[in-house]
Amino acid sequence: MAFSVGIPAETAAGERRVALVPDVVARLVKQGAEVAVEAGAGHSAYHPDAEYEEKGARIVDRAAAFGADVVAKVQPPDDEEIGLLKRGGVYVGFLSPLDRPEVSEKLAAQGVTALSMELVPRISRAQKMDALSAMSGVAGYKAVLLAADALPKFFPLLTTAAGTVRPAEALILGAGVAGLQAIATARRLGARVSAYDIRDAVREEVQSLGASFVELQLEVAGMQDEGGYAKALADEKARRQTELLVPQIGKSDVVITTALIPGRPAPLLITEAAVAAMKPGSVIVDLAAPNGGNCAHTQPGETVVVNGVQIFGPLNLPGAMSVHASQMYARTVLAMIQEFSDEESFTPNFEDEIFQSACVTHGGEIVNERVRGLLVS
Ligand code: NAI
Repeated sequence: MAFSVGIPAETAAGERRVALVPDVVARLVKQGAEVAVEAGAGHSAYHPDAEYEEKGARIVDRAAAFGADVVAKVQPPDDEEIGLLKRGGVYVGFLSPLDRPEVSEKLAAQGVTALSMELVPRISRAQKMDALSAMSGVAGYKAVLLAADALPKFFPLLTTAAGTVRPAEALILGAGVAGLQAIATARRLGARVSAYDIRDAVREEVQSLGASFVELQLEVAGMQDEGGYAKALADEKARRQTELLVPQIGKSDVVITTALIPGRPAPLLITEAAVAAMKPGSVIVDLAAPNGGNCAHTQPGETVVVNGVQIFGPLNLPGAMSVHASQMYARTVLAMIQEFSDEESFTPNFEDEIFQSACVTHGGEIVNERVRGLLVS
């Protein structure tokens, strides 16, 4: 007996991605899975139903897509969607488990085995399932385009008969996945780019992309944990950091912020004083907006203007890049499904580090301790 995979349409506002694209569906069909796609699911990613049918999928209604053995989605399910999931079935997608633990609680009550794409460990074997990094790369790219569009200046150096235009100064705060893609994109557009991160380990990568690494008079040795993630700065150091960043921010035309410590509110990097030091017309794109933002003025999901400085707090830039974001996301979800399935079934494997790390609910229980802890407290 084959197992079924369901692909519902995304209904969240501004979400244009689809969890599995037709090419990926073909791979699952080849493996022996029956794929059921909700009518119109790929529409906003420019994949019509007929393209899915050509690859061997069936077009079904919403209830049938949610009723599959394995359901793949982008955005966390709402109550109605959870109610449509099959008891004993598997759910794969973003769940925001640490910010919205109540979703996991409801999935557990529904008897679903839920895998959170956010909790895939950053180990080399799991790289192909690292949806967060894939989406962060998309966001880093798009953030620079947003800034370039809003900036009333050129990015590149221009030498024209009407005079010479100096290149824009771009500062990238946080040089992780999104930050490195932002650096590369701003460089391609011709800006002079500098970047700062508390992990000194990224200095060479920043420089190899043609950006300069900002040095602050701040002791940051040992700010990286074993997982390669940053640790939070102590209060006094964090305050000092924001002070030291003011002149750097003040001379920038564009600042893209991406600083994140997993599971914590975003650290404050751009204070009100730093915004006041910027030239009117300058632009800040705060990618950490979903976690509260790295800038004191950021309003998640909004654009605000303070002293002529435009501050963007986008919540879902990958949602606006539906073709490639869907393609990349789909490959990570496919890798996850294939890792734990054969031609007949999807089999949970708690001996496996990836499964154990990503699995939030199973057998009616929340199996992830951090998520359980959030619900108890
Ligand atoms: P990452 O973990 O790869 O990078 C974050 C970087 O911030 C790390 O290099 C870390 O060392 C650095 N950092 C942490 N605290 C710092 C501090 N106090 N000062 C300087 N640097 C500091 O994360 P990734 O994948 O690049 O994501 C970055 C952000 O982008 C996240 O907040 C994520 O939620 C967000 N994001 C936003 C999207 C949107 O549409 N708004 C879409 C995708 C991601």
